[in-house]
Amino acid sequence: MDNDSDSRQQSYEKALQTLRERLQWAVAGGGDKLRARHQERGKIPVRERIDLLLDPGSPFMELSPLAGWGMHNGEVPAAGIVTGIGRVSGVNCMIIANDATVKGGSFFPETTRKHVRAQEIAWENRLPCLYLVDCGGAFLPQQDRVFPDYGHFGTSFYHQCRMSAEGLPQLSAVFGGCTAGGAYIPALSDESVMVNGTGRIHLGGPPIVKAAISEVVDAETLGGASMHARVSGVTDYLAMNEAEALQRLRDIVAGLNWRPEGTAARRPSIPPKFDPGEIPGIVGMDLRRPFDVKEVLLRMVDGSALQEFKPEYGETLVCATAHIHGYPVGILANNGVLFSESSLKGAHFIELCNQRRIPLLFLQNITGFMVGTEAERGGIAKHSAKLVYAVATARVPRFTVLIGGSYGAGNYGMCGRGFGPRFLFSWPNSRIATMSPEVASTVLSELRRASLKGPADEEEIRALQAETKRQFEEQSDPYYATARLWDDGIIEPTQTRDVLGICLQLADESTPRFQGQSPVYRM
Ligand code: COA
Repeated sequence: MDNDSDSRQQSYEKALQTLRERLQWAVAGGGDKLRARHQERGKIPVRERIDLLLDPGSPFMELSPLAGWGMHNGEVPAAGIVTGIGRVSGVNCMIIANDATVKGGSFFPETTRKHVRAQEIAWENRLPCLYLVDCGGAFLPQQDRVFPDYGHFGTSFYHQCRMSAEGLPQLSAVFGGCTAGGAYIPALSDESVMVNGTGRIHLGGPPIVKAAISEVVDAETLGGASMHARVSGVTDYLAMNEAEALQRLRDIVAGLNWRPEGTAARRPSIPPKFDPGEIPGIVGMDLRRPFDVKEVLLRMVDGSALQEFKPEYGETLVCATAHIHGYPVGILANNGVLFSESSLKGAHFIELCNQRRIPLLFLQNITGFMVGTEAERGGIAKHSAKLVYAVATARVPRFTVLIGGSYGAGNYGMCGRGFGPRFLFSWPNSRIATMSPEVASTVLSELRRASLKGPADEEEIRALQAETKRQFEEQSDPYYATARLWDDGIIEPTQTRDVLGICLQLADESTPRFQGQSPVYRM
């Protein structure tokens, strides 16, 4: 490594330090006092519940831990819910677990988004869903942002019913007071377990019952576990403590008669020949400095072995097949602006991967498609659309990682969130917006000048430029994005290979063994 890459490595290391500190905020949940109160009630903290549920020593791929970052006065760590994929009794499952130390596990807008997103991932990857329920329902002061619309709380129940109907098991364990929406999670599950003494299910809690029908009743009589297991039949199993409830969930999963699919011609996983630890020094934190994406790929794929497609043509889009943890993958990675040639090459490559049933990985570092007279006369609008169309209609699982800028239509051509990749992760150096802060401030000030009748007030223009730049800088920050669930989490460059390995395994295990063949249309 030279001096420049050393200093890039150091500045990236600082960014990683920031990421790790912010993750501590997410893990701390509602803080020491509420955690102590939780434990005094005989309840286990949410992440420890997950540890007890998972097969010992197996990994847990947590999703969007920084949801809610910088929002709600910092009072809703991880959006009050932990979601992620882990192995239970040998079966990969989606785990969706409320953190009752964060506002009683009630649902903020980001909680709802995170819950619904976890279900979407489960659905697409055909994973059983395990709900560890400890949930006060909608966070009432923000009910207009969590209750009425599509994608809100109701959608999570719709998903639960639809997934169950498609044979994807929905299983719950109830650890705390579950009111209203919180009650429907176990009520709509295929099977549920309740913990005696602390687990409660009621459509309306004691205050609501009093207000609605003037009945005065305590919570245990109204919706306690014993009543529901012995009288109402709302739950199927009574557990004497949380550990027993978690063991019961494990036993139910063990009895699911679950067999994963799988078509990939998998090879043994071999590490890259080049050190993944060098990626930060290659990439750096300065988006204006280009880097050769092949140097990144060589540190990400098995044996650093890449089979490049059309290496002499459309060189600003690297298309290559490789293996990651033994799974075949077709990679599209930016190495500059997208021209007509690179777009056509990308579309052709996607057709090949469709035919061979090879999942696609998009590594985004893109300012956009080429602009200007020459590009327009060359049909960039038509050719970029071909890439966008191929991305949208690909018949194989797709994954996206933002490893640099994600600007403009380049975001679409490289399978941004709007194009529904199975997973989308970001690196700490990434930025996402319609355009960069510098370009945005120029565009808006030019528009302002053009709309003025007389000469421009230069001071006003400078203020507009400064405000636009500030706004775009704030909003394109990866933490702004991850807080709002525009991605499935910020990950470190060195972790990326392992994360992708899990994604590829899940995709393979959910791919039916028998599928029709796809033709290849040459571009
Ligand atoms: N909306 C708004 N705030 C809520 C809430 C909700 N649905 N559920 C809990 N909270 C808040 C509490 O006001 C409290 O806030 P504070 O710390 O700022 O004072 C915090 O979350 C913790 O609640 P607390 O009651 O102290 O926790 P708990 O563990 O003893 O009980 C619940 C948890 C969920 C059983 C209980 O809070 C409850 O019954 N909440 C109301 C449930 C309800 O009626 N939901 C209807 C939704 S449509």
